[in-house]
Amino acid sequence: MGDIMDVIKMDDKKKEGRYSRIYKQLKDLLLKTDDPLARMASVCAVLHHKMDYYFWTGFYLLKEDKLIVGPYQGPLACQELEKDKGVCWAAVNGRTPVLVADVHAFPGHVSCDSRSLSEITVPVFNGQGEVMAVFDVDSDHTDSFTSVDQRALSEIMALIFSTE
Ligand code: SME
Repeated sequence: MGDIMDVIKMDDKKKEGRYSRIYKQLKDLLLKTDDPLARMASVCAVLHHKMDYYFWTGFYLLKEDKLIVGPYQGPLACQELEKDKGVCWAAVNGRTPVLVADVHAFPGHVSCDSRSLSEITVPVFNGQGEVMAVFDVDSDHTDSFTSVDQRALSEIMALIFSTE
């Protein structure tokens, strides 16, 4: 029997199927340009409109010591993120994705919109292994992201600076 959580949360099996279709679509789409910013914009548009639980979907670009907002979809967001604070900087500094089930329990979380309750951040690397940006998704429900999101989004982020 289904319960209310089935309506607001996508299960991992359904996520796997959807991410796999999106990955194929994005791989073809992103080949049409080698501009990383254009690729980021396309990734945001596709993911934001295909994943129902994405409330805010976007990139912050690492410029010297700053994270500056890049392409995004969703409500108005912070334009710059204070260095070394919050979930985006944690992914940049740790060079690894960060999953936050409840943003209120994450010390230093930066709230751009009080409706955001859970979050995932994934670093974006260039061909030399340098972090160039971070991809950030917020959900307006707690506990929306799992290892399935983490794996699929890491694969998608590898397309941004790919030369293949
Ligand atoms: N929550 C992020 C800030 C960016 S917004 O969620 C769009 C953080 O803690 O870094």
